[in-house]
Formats: sequence, C-alpha cells, structure tokens
Amino acid sequence: MDFTTKLNQRITRIERALDELVPVYGGAETGPARIHEAMRYSLQAGGKRLRPVLVLSAAELFSGPAVDPALPAAVAIECVHTYSLIHDDLPCMDNDDLRRGRPTAHRQFDEATALLAGDALLTHAFLLLTRYAADPRLTTALVRELADAAGSARLIGGQMQDLLAEKKTDATAAELDFIHLNKTAAMIEASLVFGGLIGGAGESDLGLLRTAGRHLGLAFQIIDDVLDATADSTTLGKTAGKDAQAGKTTYVKLHGIENARRMAQEQTDRALQALRSLPGDTAFLTELTQTMTARVK
Ligand code: IPE
Ligand code: IPE
Ligand code: MG
Ligand code: MG
Ligand code: MG
Repeated sequence: MDFTTKLNQRITRIERALDELVPVYGGAETGPARIHEAMRYSLQAGGKRLRPVLVLSAAELFSGPAVDPALPAAVAIECVHTYSLIHDDLPCMDNDDLRRGRPTAHRQFDEATALLAGDALLTHAFLLLTRYAADPRLTTALVRELADAAGSARLIGGQMQDLLAEKKTDATAAELDFIHLNKTAAMIEASLVFGGLIGGAGESDLGLLRTAGRHLGLAFQIIDDVLDATADSTTLGKTAGKDAQAGKTTYVKLHGIENARRMAQEQTDRALQALRSLPGDTAFLTELTQTMTARVK
C-alpha cells in the first residue's frame, strides 16, 4: 500500500473515532448541548491530524497493524491539540478569526463558550485515557506523559513565552528554541511516545521516539513560521501574516526565510536519524516526517 493510501486510511479511522469518542450530550442530565457542539465544531473542522496519525503509526511499529487499541489515546492527543488551538486563537492570545478553514470557535460561538470548549476538551482527553485502566502501569504512563507535555513546563510554558516574547526586539535564538520546543514539539514528542507505550516499546526505543518527536516538532513549528510569512490564508485555513503583524519571535524573524527552511531540514534529518534506529517498518513514519518539511499548509 502506498504512503498516501495508508495515511488516508489512518485519518479515516481517526475521524471515525473522534466522532465516537467525543460526547454529543445535551438535555436534562448532561447539560447544555452548546458546549458539546462547540467541542465538536473545532474538532471536526478537519486539520492534518498529524499527532493522532503519529500515535497510530508508532504503535504499529511494535504491535503490528492491530492498532485499534491506540485510537482512544490518539483521540486524546487530538483533543488536547484542538483545545490548544481554540485557546491560542482567543482575542487575549493570538486573536485569530480563521482556523481550519472556518471561523474560530470564539467567532462562531462566543469567547466564554470557546474557553469552556477548550477546558472540556483538555479534561475529556484524560477521561479517554481511563480506557486503558485494565493496564494500570500503561494508564499511569500515558497520564504522566500527557500531563507533562501539556503542562506548565511544556505546552503552556511555550505558549507563555511566545506571548512574553511578542514585540521583543532582543529575543535570542535560545529563547526562540524554548518556545518552539515547548509550545509545539512537546505534543509531537508525546504522540510518538504514546504510540510506543501502547505498542509496548522498551526504554531505549521510547527514547528514540522522543528524540524523533522533538526534532520533527521543531521542524514542524519552523515550517509553520515560514508558511505564516509565505502562504495565503485560504491555503492555510488560518490567517497568514499574523506573526509579523503581532511582532512574534519566530524563525523567520530571527533567521530569515531561507535559513529557517534550511534549519527545518536539519531538524528533519535529525528526526529521520532517530527513526532509522527503531525496529519494525519505519517507512511510513520516515515519509510522513519528510512530507512535513515540504508541506504547503
Ligand atoms: C497548528 O498545528 C499549531 C502548531 C503547532 C503549528 P497544525 O498545523 O497541526 O494544525 P491542524 O491540526 O492541521 O489544524
Ligand atoms: C501555536 O503556535 C502552538 C499551539 C497552539 C500550542 P501558533 O500560534 O504559531 O499556531 P498557529 O499558527 O496559530 O496555528
Ligand atoms: Mg500562538
Ligand atoms: Mg496562533
Ligand atoms: Mg503559527
């Protein structure tokens, strides 16, 4: 099966699981339908589904193609990612009107609903991890991994620093790397580690997955910076040119577009190097990693 067919199959499985594993409540016992509509509005708007695809693909390296046990974890990761986007777009953060080709959650609903939908998606992710309760060690490892990646030292720390570095004229390359490593690479790392944990990978392979995720994550955010400066809003499905407008500290601002592309390629090469040492058939993950540097959205 070729890469694109495999990718689309995985995305289809993920989309179906997103629909099944995220509630559609509303009514006397479960409360207002509006919050669940808002959660599903942002989740089901599409998106590349990179992180849940990484979860399934890493799991398959160790446990073969029976990857269905990885689906709740893959959905949990996408819930946290989507929550981070909803909050990232709020007027008090990046103040964006367009996401995944649609009005942002606070535009479609209102700010309070968007805030609550983000909160609910984050909480729901941890509820989904209880589906692994039959294996308490796995459950604990998944909860720790996700709480760490999404917590104040990583995703949130990166987002905080991203805001603190806005309009800064003397931001350093080290500060920029802190932002990218945490606001973006943390969740990409966690996605590959999730797959490894569910597939039963040993410590050294988990370390390789973490290394691959870290470099893929850095490459991914560098390209996100480049696309913000070079692509158009329709292709991106989000507002282009926002970083320069907001005075964000990005790879484009500190290093320029050409250097940024070269640095993304260097990070990609480092991710590929880590993938090469893993067992199993890494062809799919290798190609996925390569396509992320060449992506146009
Ligand atoms: C956007 O992530 C935020 C970043 C970390 C750059 P994606 O580019 O993966 O967004 P979707 O999920 O495809 O919408
Ligand atoms: C966002 O970085 C990273 C997270 C959502 C955690 P950006 O602010 O660059 O993402 P986009 O460009 O809005 O998708
Ligand atoms: Mg942001
Ligand atoms: Mg943003
Ligand atoms: Mg961006």
